[in-house]
Amino acid sequence: MSPSPLITRTVPALRRAVDNLRKRTATVALVPTMGALHDGHVSLVRLAKRRGSRVVVSIFVNPTQFAPSEDFGAYPRTWTADIAKLAAEGVDIVWHPGVEAMYPEGFATRIVPEGPALAGLEDRFRPHFFGGVATVVGKLFTQCRPDVAIFGEKDFQQLRVVTQLARDLDLGVKVIGSRTVRERDGLAMSSRNVYLSPEERQTATVLYRAMKDSAGRVRAGEAIRPAMARGAETIAAAGFALDYFEVRNAKTLAPVTSRNDGPLRILVAAKLGTTRLIDNVAV
Ligand code: PAF
Repeated sequence: MSPSPLITRTVPALRRAVDNLRKRTATVALVPTMGALHDGHVSLVRLAKRRGSRVVVSIFVNPTQFAPSEDFGAYPRTWTADIAKLAAEGVDIVWHPGVEAMYPEGFATRIVPEGPALAGLEDRFRPHFFGGVATVVGKLFTQCRPDVAIFGEKDFQQLRVVTQLARDLDLGVKVIGSRTVRERDGLAMSSRNVYLSPEERQTATVLYRAMKDSAGRVRAGEAIRPAMARGAETIAAAGFALDYFEVRNAKTLAPVTSRNDGPLRILVAAKLGTTRLIDNVAV
C-alpha cells in the first residue's frame, strides 16, 4: 500500500513540501479539485502521474465561485474517502487550505477573466463563476508552482479559461485537459451526481445520448440548426430545464454556423429538479 500523502494546510508548509519534492525531481503536476473525489478525479491523478514525476492534489471548496443561491454549503465533502483514494494512487502532497488561508482577512484582489470566460455559455447563467475560478486557480498556481496542471474536459469552458489565464499571466504552468470519465450508461462523472434521485439519475443519461445524436447528425452532413434543435427538444421532453445546448468552435468557443467552422464541440447545461448538470462532446 502507498504511504498517505503529506497533508499541508498553510502556504509556508506547502512551499516547504513542494521545494522538498523539487530537490529530488524535475516535474511537479498539480490536480486542482474541490474534493468529493470520484473515478473522474482518479483519472486526472493518473494523467498527472504520467506527466509529472510528483503529484500535488488540492482539495478546496472555493466559496468565491458559488453564488449565494448555489450549493456551497451542501457541496459534498468526503475527506476520509478522498484521502484514501489519493493514498491508493500514490499522490505526494494534498494541499488543503482553510478559507482563511486562501482568503485571509483583508483579501482584496481578484482576477477578472475575459475571452473564453465571456463566451456566453456558463458565464451567462453563472456570472460570478469564472472570476472565482480564475482567482483561486491563479492562487493555486502561484502557491504550488507546478510545471503542469490537469483539468477535466467535462468543464470545457473552464479548461479554456484556465489555459488562457496561465498563458496571459506568464504563470509558467502547462495546462493539460483530461478526457471525461463516464458511467457505463454515458452520464459524465460529477461530484454533483449524488444530488440526483434514482429516477433523475436514470433520466440524466438523456444528456449524453442527445449530444451524441446531434453530433452524429452534424457529422453526417445535417445542417447545424435542425440537428441541434432535435437534441434540445429531446432534453426538454425528458424533463430538463435547459440552460443551453450549443455547438461551438472547440478552440475559441465562438458560435458556428457550419460544420466547416470546426473543430466543433457540443456543450450542454441543464437542470433536472434542483441539480444542474453540464457536459460536452466533440463533433
Ligand atoms: O473544477 C473544479 O473542481 C473547480 O472549479 C476548481 C478548478 C478546482 C477551482 O476551484
